[in-house]
Amino acid sequence: MKVFYTKKEISEFVNSIIREGKTLGYVPTMGALHQGHGSLIEQSITENQVTIVSIFVNPTQFDNKADLNKYPRTLENDIELIKKIDASIVVFAPSSKELYANDVNSKSYSFDGLEHEMEGKHRQGHFDGVGTILDLFFNLIKPTNAYFGEKDFQQLQIVKKLVSKLNLNVNVVGCNIFREHSGLAMSSRNERLSKEARAEAAFIFKTLKQAKIHFGTKSAAKVEEWVTNQFAKNTHFNLEYVSIANVNTLKPVKRKSKKQQYRLFIAAFIDNIRLIDNIALN
Ligand code: PAJ
Repeated sequence: MKVFYTKKEISEFVNSIIREGKTLGYVPTMGALHQGHGSLIEQSITENQVTIVSIFVNPTQFDNKADLNKYPRTLENDIELIKKIDASIVVFAPSSKELYANDVNSKSYSFDGLEHEMEGKHRQGHFDGVGTILDLFFNLIKPTNAYFGEKDFQQLQIVKKLVSKLNLNVNVVGCNIFREHSGLAMSSRNERLSKEARAEAAFIFKTLKQAKIHFGTKSAAKVEEWVTNQFAKNTHFNLEYVSIANVNTLKPVKRKSKKQQYRLFIAAFIDNIRLIDNIALN
């Protein structure tokens, strides 16, 4: 399996693929791969002639140095896992120095307000960091299709905005949330949960599913209140936010309209580990 570490190597490979006129699928990741990542990779393989997976823990999108340091780095396992999916996949695993040289800083972007909601309020500079690295990767890899999980729905919408603002010729594909048997959304952070906390965390999706039923008959404000109360009653969790938002603007819903699509988003701490999840409501 091909594993590249430098910009020069990946550029040469990409240029050869472009010369051959092949479609190129791209799955950006920060490694510590699980089946959620695997489902994106498999979709890319089905829909493209060549697939590139990048593995890079991007320092500019962490607002907290401790979180960056604690982020799991499991490159060898990741490469093995990818090889098992399909040995023709190409991995790009650059160092920070290779990508950023000595300027480990974000550019600043406007995503027309998407960046000020939810995760943007709670993780300072996060989406500028995501924008900076994807701007760089998209220009280097020039994919036909790029795959992102709805697990990070706000990120998905911001990437679509980035591509349209920068006029990049990339089709951004949103992929379903892949869940554990319990319903807990797969995440690299789940590995840090104790066995008890991991079992308890199934509560998140259970609550989202019930909230979806309530949304059929209740106002957005009432459903948010109901979710807040459910979390308040559960001593294992600290709820950071709950928001029922329009999928396009990500702004909280004031009054429901049948013509609009909505999602419920939450972020909550269990065992000091921050988990996010969301569900389509209509
Ligand atoms: P990372 O958290 O590694 O996630 C890589 C991709 O996998 C993202 O598009 C994410 O939404 C998707 N993903 C994670 N868990 C998933 C699940 N349970 N079901 C479906 N998809 C899932 O997101 C990032 O990395 C970074 O911000 C990145 C885009 C790579 C930029 O640095």
